[in-house]
Amino acid sequence: MAKKVAVIGAGVSGLISLKCCVDEGLEPTCFERTKDIGGLWRFQENVEDGRASIYQSVITNTSKEMSCFSDFPMPEDFPNFLHNSKLLEYFRIFAKKFDLLKYIQFQTTVLSVKKRPDFSSSGQWEVVTENKGQEQSSVFDAVMVCNGHHILPHIPLEEFPGIERFKGQYFHSRQYKCPEGFEGKHILVVGIGNSAADIAVELSKKAAQVFISTRGGSWIISRISKDGYPWDMIFHTRYKSMLQDVLPRIVLKWMRNQQMDRWFSHENYALEPQNKNLMKESIVNDELPSHILRGAIKVKSKVRELTETSAIFEDGTVEEDIDVIVFATGYTLSFPFLEDSLVKVENNMVSLFKYMFPPHHEKPTLACIGLIQPLGPIFPTVELQARWATRVFKGLCTLPSEKTMMEDIIERHKKRIDLFGESQSQILQTNYISYLDELALEIGAKPELLSLLLKDPKLAVKVYFGPCNSYQYRLVGPGQWEGARRAILTQKQRILKPLKTRALEPSSNFSVSFLLKILGLLAVVVAFFSRFLWF
Ligand SMILES: Cc1cc2nc3c(=O)[nH]c(=O)nc-3n(C[C@H](O)[C@H](O)[C@H](O)COP(=O)(O)OP(=O)(O)OC[C@H]3O[C@@H](n4cnc5c(N)ncnc54)[C@H](O)[C@@H]3O)c2cc1C
Ligand SMILES: *[C@@H]1O[C@H](CO)[C@@H](O)[C@H](O)[C@H]1NC(C)=O
Ligand SMILES: *[C@@H]1O[C@H](CO)[C@@H](O)[C@H](O)[C@H]1NC(C)=O
Repeated sequence: MAKKVAVIGAGVSGLISLKCCVDEGLEPTCFERTKDIGGLWRFQENVEDGRASIYQSVITNTSKEMSCFSDFPMPEDFPNFLHNSKLLEYFRIFAKKFDLLKYIQFQTTVLSVKKRPDFSSSGQWEVVTENKGQEQSSVFDAVMVCNGHHILPHIPLEEFPGIERFKGQYFHSRQYKCPEGFEGKHILVVGIGNSAADIAVELSKKAAQVFISTRGGSWIISRISKDGYPWDMIFHTRYKSMLQDVLPRIVLKWMRNQQMDRWFSHENYALEPQNKNLMKESIVNDELPSHILRGAIKVKSKVRELTETSAIFEDGTVEEDIDVIVFATGYTLSFPFLEDSLVKVENNMVSLFKYMFPPHHEKPTLACIGLIQPLGPIFPTVELQARWATRVFKGLCTLPSEKTMMEDIIERHKKRIDLFGESQSQILQTNYISYLDELALEIGAKPELLSLLLKDPKLAVKVYFGPCNSYQYRLVGPGQWEGARRAILTQKQRILKPLKTRALEPSSNFSVSFLLKILGLLAVVVAFFSRFLWF
C-alpha cells in the first residue's frame, strides 16, 4: 500500500513536495491554513496572521532560468526577473500541469504533529488539524514540514534604548505594503537585507529623507551582469564554484572585492562590509547606489539610542525629526505545531541533518523542506530536498547513524560560522552549488562531468562553464527528464525572448572586425612582397 504523507503548507516548498510525492508513488495530503496556494508569493493588501507578508512591489532577486523547477522551464515570454504576481502565475501553471490542487485541503491549519505510541516500529505520526472550528486527527507514515520561515517578525527592541519614548510610528517590514502615506516624511530603515534596501529605495521617491542604518554594511549587486545577462547566470557556474573550493581564501577575498567594487566603491558610499572575510550574501538592488548618489538615502551606522523625535547613532551623529522607523530586522524561526524536541534551534544552530532531518528519531519519517537560505535561488534547492526526502521515506535512500549525523551537523555548523559569521541572520545560510550537489549525490542525480565530456562534449561545456540551473539535475539518475538537455541548450532563447521586443532592421552583414582581419592579412602579404619589390 502506498505510504501516506502529510505536507504542511502549500507555498513553494509544499507544492514541490506534493509533486515529488506523486512522482515517487506516495500518497500525499497537503494542509494549507489559507484558502489558496503560493504562500509568501501571494500578495495581499492586509497582513494575515500566520502567513508571510510581502510588499506590493516585490520582484524576484533570482532570475527565471535559475529559479524554475527542473522539468518545467518558465514560459518563454516571462521576464527574467518576475513581479510577485507573475511568479505566482508560474506556480499556478505548475500546480495545474501536475494536477496538484486535488491533494490540498485549504483553510486547514495543522495544530500538532506527534509520534504515535508505536513510532519506533511504525515511524507513524498523528497529525491534528483544524478546519472551521472542527478538529480532526489522522495518521500518516511521513510528514513534510513546509510552513516557511518568514512568519514571526524579529524586532530586537532591547537594542534600541529609548524606543518607548519615541513619538513617531514604528513597525516591522512585514507590515509594509506600499509607499502611499509616507509623503514628505523623515524615515529611518533599520537593517540592510534585500527588504530593507527595497523599502528604502521605494520610500525615498516620496519621503523627505530616508536613512538606512546598518552595523555591518553589505555588498550591493545589480541584477544586470555581463552583457546584460541576469547576475545569477554569470555568478553560479560550476567552474566558479570549483575555483572557490581550490583558491586560498585571501585570493578569493581579493577577487570578490574587485568584482563588487567594479560598479561603485562601497567605501565611498559608506556601505563597505565590516568583515570582508565573510562570504555573506550580497543584496540585489539596482537603484540603491543611485538614490544614495542623489542624496535621497543616507547610510548611517547602528542606532545607539532613540529620543522622542530623533535617532542617535554609534558614531555620535544625530538625525532629528524622525517620523517613521521601519525595522527590516528579519524573522524568528518557529514551528508552533511541533514539540520542542523535534526541530531544535539552540546556540545559533539548527539541529537538522543537512537542514532537513532531525537526527534523534528511530525512523527518518519527518523532513523539513525549505528551512534554508542558499546563496542562490531557493526553488531548485527545495526541489532537490523534496526529491531526497521522498526517496528516504520510501526506503530507497538511507540515512547514516545518529552519531554520524550529529557529527555532520556540528562540522557544518563550524564551517558556516567560518564562512558566513556568527550573526543570527546567517543561521540558515548555505553555499549554493555544493549544497545542491550534495543532495543530488544522495539520490544519484548529480551530473558526472567526465563521462558527459566523452559522450556529449557540447553539453558538458555548458554544464561546467554555463549557469548551474536545475535542469542539470535531470540529466541522469532517477527522475531523469529527456527534455533536460534541450532546456540547457536553449536557455539563451528564453532569456532573450522577453528582451528583444523590437523588430530590428536586419543589420548589414558587413562586419568591421571582418574587414580589419582582411586588412591585417593584406598588410602581412604586402610586407612580405615589398621586400622583393624594394631590394
Ligand atoms: C520578500 C522576500 C523575497 C524573496 N525573494 C526570493 C527570490 O527572489 N528568490 C528566492 O529564491 N527566494 C526568495 N525568497 C525566499 C523565500 O523564502 C522563498 O522564495 C519561498 O517562497 C519560501 O517558500 P515556502 O513554501 O518555504 O514558505 P511560504 O511561502 O511562507 O509558505 C508556507 C505556507 O505554509 C502555510 N502554513 C504555515 N503554517 C501552517 C500550518 N500550521 N498549517 C497549515 N499551513 C500552514 C502558510 O499559509 C503558507 O501558505 C524571498 C523571501 C522574502 C521574504
Ligand atoms: C532574495 O531575497 C530574499 C528576501 O530578502 C532572501 O531571503 C534571499 O536570500 C535572497 N536571495 C539571494 C540569492 O540573494
Ligand atoms: C546576413 O547573413 C545571414 C546568414 O549569415 C543571412 O541569413 C542574412 O540574410 C544576411 N543579411 C543581409 C542583409 O544580407
